[in-house]
Amino acid sequence: MLEELRAALGLLGCLTGADVPEAARSDTSRCGRHLPLALLRPATVEEVSAAMAICHRHGVPVVPQGGMTGLAGGANPGPEAVALSLSRLNGVEEIDREAMARVVRAGTVLEAAQKAAEAEGLLLPVDLGARGSCQIGGNIATNAGGVRVLHDGMTRDNLLGLDVVLADGTVLSQLTRVVKNNTGYDLRHLFAGSEGTLGVITRAVIRLRPLPLPRGTALVALPDFAAVLRLLAMARARLPGLSAFEAMWRDYFGFNQAQLGLKLFPEPPPFAVILEAEEGEALETLLATAMDEGILTDALLAQSLTEARRFWEVREGHIMDAVLPGLINLDVSLTTGRLDAFAGACRQALLGRFPGAHVSFYGHVADSNLHIAVALPGGGTEAEVHGVDAVTYGVVRDFGGSISAEHGIGTLKRDWLGHSRSPAELAAMRAIKAALDPKGILNPGKVLPPE
Ligand code: FAD
Ligand code: LAC
Ligand code: ZN
Repeated sequence: MLEELRAALGLLGCLTGADVPEAARSDTSRCGRHLPLALLRPATVEEVSAAMAICHRHGVPVVPQGGMTGLAGGANPGPEAVALSLSRLNGVEEIDREAMARVVRAGTVLEAAQKAAEAEGLLLPVDLGARGSCQIGGNIATNAGGVRVLHDGMTRDNLLGLDVVLADGTVLSQLTRVVKNNTGYDLRHLFAGSEGTLGVITRAVIRLRPLPLPRGTALVALPDFAAVLRLLAMARARLPGLSAFEAMWRDYFGFNQAQLGLKLFPEPPPFAVILEAEEGEALETLLATAMDEGILTDALLAQSLTEARRFWEVREGHIMDAVLPGLINLDVSLTTGRLDAFAGACRQALLGRFPGAHVSFYGHVADSNLHIAVALPGGGTEAEVHGVDAVTYGVVRDFGGSISAEHGIGTLKRDWLGHSRSPAELAAMRAIKAALDPKGILNPGKVLPPE
């Protein structure tokens, strides 16, 4: 099989043995342990198709790999699998100004695709912290979210068309640029969020938007979660171009502010929110009204990009990775009104089981998405980390929530998929998987728990 792959992809396209880089072991969850049998690096759609046909004939598992920034273990290979990296299939193809759409190859790094759109005076609306490394194909395969979902939607909402190579090498080309297309099943949405289990995404048509007007950024302090909800309702109704509404619970804001050596608010408030909207009077008026009504106890309006960056630095919390070894980042969904009740129950359950752990909450409140940062004393063993998942997802089930809002299932959340999906839903997913990949060679063991 390796000889066939080398003949089809050339020596650069099929690395084996010591040539396979360590980075092929694991995504950013760092739970991957194995080097793959080979690392395939096709440079064209035809080469992806040829590689899949060969692996299919030999019944060998294939694990698609993008920028390896995933947080759920989805791109991690087993020792018996080949990894298929899309990195050489990169670059933006033509732009269709009338359709406000652009064809992008799957291995294009998100930031490069964003810059190419900006150079044309347009916005590519998908954006997330991993923009410098994650790839368009990976963003689609995980249906990535980010901080501007309330304005621009998830990745799938910005996806017009797709080219996908199926398990047997068939190229399923649906590079449509039209917005309305009710011609039977909408196949593109099967692949968005499928985490490499249904097909290899090779090209996509991404919808572009006009560049936004200059944005204003505010950091505000609130006394309780009811005030956060009132502010959200006001911001939705009165702020043109509201593009971010990010909440931080006191435990998260206080920890990050202190670690960064900042004192944005003298005392960490019960809740801090970053608001981003079109710059101008509406934002200032809203802050003044909210202060008068007691919704806010303090408000800072960024006077420069540097100041806005400082607010975001606290929210992005990259410093936590440096100071909390073995940091676990969970991402769950619950109806917006119940986020704080969930946070209270989850904190109590986690600290009850792991006294002395760091537990803090933040998230995309407008999208009903809560992130939980957990660090166990000494980093925790693999079994203890598993325990953090078990405790958290148990509370998610009790609250009728989703165990993954945006990072996906991969291997890390697979055993708990049944907490958020019914037996009938799991059976429908298995039927789709069996129809598209009857031999089960595409990213086996990911997403769907064993029957
Ligand atoms: P990988 O990690 O390489 O792969 C992810 C999954 O997609 C795997 O299952 C893989 O098999 C599959 N895959 C990859 N490429 C293809 C392809 N071409 N065809 C088929 N399957 C493929 N996520 C959010 O949703 N919101 C955030 O705000 C966010 N912020 C992040 C911030 C940081 C600092 C980091 C490290 C990650 C963040 N993420 C976030 C996680 C997010 O899922 C990934 O960053 C990104 O979408 C994955 O892209 P990737 O190219 O790195 O994919
Ligand atoms: C964030 C990533 C972790 O929202 O999803 O910062
Ligand atoms: Zn997030």
